[in-house]
Amino acid sequence: MPAIAIIGAQWGDEGKGKIVDLLAEKVNMVVRFSGGSNAGHTVVNPCGEFRMHLIPSGIFHREVTCIIGNGVVIDPAVLLEEIEELKGHDVAVDRLFVSDRAHLIMPYHLLLDGLEEEARGSGALGTTRRGIGPAYMDKAGRLGIRTGDLLEKGAFLERLRLVLDQKNRILTRVYEAQPLVLEEVYEKYCHYGELLAPFIRETDLMVQEALERKEKVLLEGAQGTLLDVDFGTYPYVTSTSTMAGGACSGLGLSPMKLDGIIGVFKVYTTRVGSGPMPTELLDETGELIREHAHERGATTGRPRRCGWFDAVVGRFSARTNGFSSIALTRLDILGVLPSLKICTAYRLEGKTLINPPSSVAMLARCEPLYEELPGWQTDISPIRRFKDLPREARNYVKRLEELLDCPASIISVGERREQTIMVSEPL
Ligand code: IMO
Ligand code: MG
Repeated sequence: MPAIAIIGAQWGDEGKGKIVDLLAEKVNMVVRFSGGSNAGHTVVNPCGEFRMHLIPSGIFHREVTCIIGNGVVIDPAVLLEEIEELKGHDVAVDRLFVSDRAHLIMPYHLLLDGLEEEARGSGALGTTRRGIGPAYMDKAGRLGIRTGDLLEKGAFLERLRLVLDQKNRILTRVYEAQPLVLEEVYEKYCHYGELLAPFIRETDLMVQEALERKEKVLLEGAQGTLLDVDFGTYPYVTSTSTMAGGACSGLGLSPMKLDGIIGVFKVYTTRVGSGPMPTELLDETGELIREHAHERGATTGRPRRCGWFDAVVGRFSARTNGFSSIALTRLDILGVLPSLKICTAYRLEGKTLINPPSSVAMLARCEPLYEELPGWQTDISPIRRFKDLPREARNYVKRLEELLDCPASIISVGERREQTIMVSEPL
C-alpha cells in the first residue's frame, strides 16, 4: 500500500499539521519534501501543543519513522532547537532522519532574506525571513551547501570559502552590510554537523525500501498551492514546488508510487504576507474570523488576512494537483456567522472568469462573485458523524465538494485529534 500526499490547497496554514498528526497513527513513515522552517504546522495532541517547522508532524507516534527529505532546506539551528523541544516533552526523536542531499540555510541566507525584503520597499513579498528564497536560489544556482557536506570537513571548508567570498561581496558592496567571517561560520556549521550526523541518511533509499516492504508512507506538504513557485500567485509565492508533483523530486519517489493526494482546505480563506487575495474581508467579519479562530502566523506571529472561501482558486488547486479527496478544516469556526459566502467566479472588466488569471495584476482587479448560504450558528465541535451536523453545515460542505469536484474524506471541527469527522477512509 500506499504513499499518500497531504497537500496545502490554498495559501498555506490550512491545518496540514493536524491532519498529518491524525493520520500518522495508521502509517509507518511521515516525510517532509519541500519548504523549510517557513512552515509552521500546529499540532495539539496528548503530548502538548506544538508548532512544527521542520520535523514531520508524525513524530508524536512512537512507531513512525520521520524523514526530512532532500527537497527541504534546513536551518540547523531551528532543527536542533525543535529536537530539544520535543525531547523536553518526552517525545522521542530516535526515528527521525534527514536527507544527506537536503540543502542548508546558511547565515548569509538569513541576512539576505531580510536585506532583499527591505530593498523591495513597498513591493516586499512579506517573506517569513527564514532564508528560504536565498537558499533555494543557491540550490538552483549551484552554490548550495548540503547536510552531507558537513560530514566532509576538508571539502566543506573549501566550498564555504568559495561561496562565502561571493556572498560577502554581495553583502558589503550591494547592501553595505558587514561581511561574515569564514572561520566563525565554518566552526559553527562543523558543530551543527557533529550534532546532526546521527540523523543524516540516504533518505531516498529509506522511502523506496519502505514502499517495497508495503509500508504506508504519508507525505506532509508545506505551504500551499497558491504559494507554489509555478502555479501560485507569482511573485507573491515561496520558492518551492509545494504541490503534489514536488513530492516526487523532493524525496526521490517515482510518480508511479503516489497512490493518493489529499488536498487540505480551510473552509474559509487566510493568507499571510503580501499579494492579491480576492475574497479578503477588510471589515468586521474578517476581524471576527481572525479573533475567533486566533488566525496568527505560527512562524512569524503576524495576523493572517481572512476572507470567504474562494472556490475559483480552490477548483484550480484541486484540478492542478489532482486531489483524490479533500480534508476540510475549521468548520467549527463558521458557527459564529449568521450567513456564509462562497466565491464561485470572478468578474473582471465585464467578463466572468471561472479560472484565476496567472497575472497578479489582473487577479488584484478581480471582483469576487458570491453565493450566500445560511449559517448554522451553533457549536459543532463535539460532533463526530457527518449526519449529525446541522443541515446548514452539511449543505455548506456539499456545496464545496460540488464546486471543487472532489469528495471530502475528513472534516475537522476543532484542533484536537478527536475533533474530527471521518467521512470516508482516506488511506
Ligand atoms: P505552512 O506550511 C503560510 C508565505 C509567506 C510569504 C511567502 C514567501 O505553515 O502552511 P517565504 O518565507 O517562504 O519566502 O515567504 O510565503 N509562507 C507561508 N504562508 N503558511 C506557510 O507555511 C508559509 N510559508 C511561507 O508568508 O507570503
Ligand atoms: Mg502554518
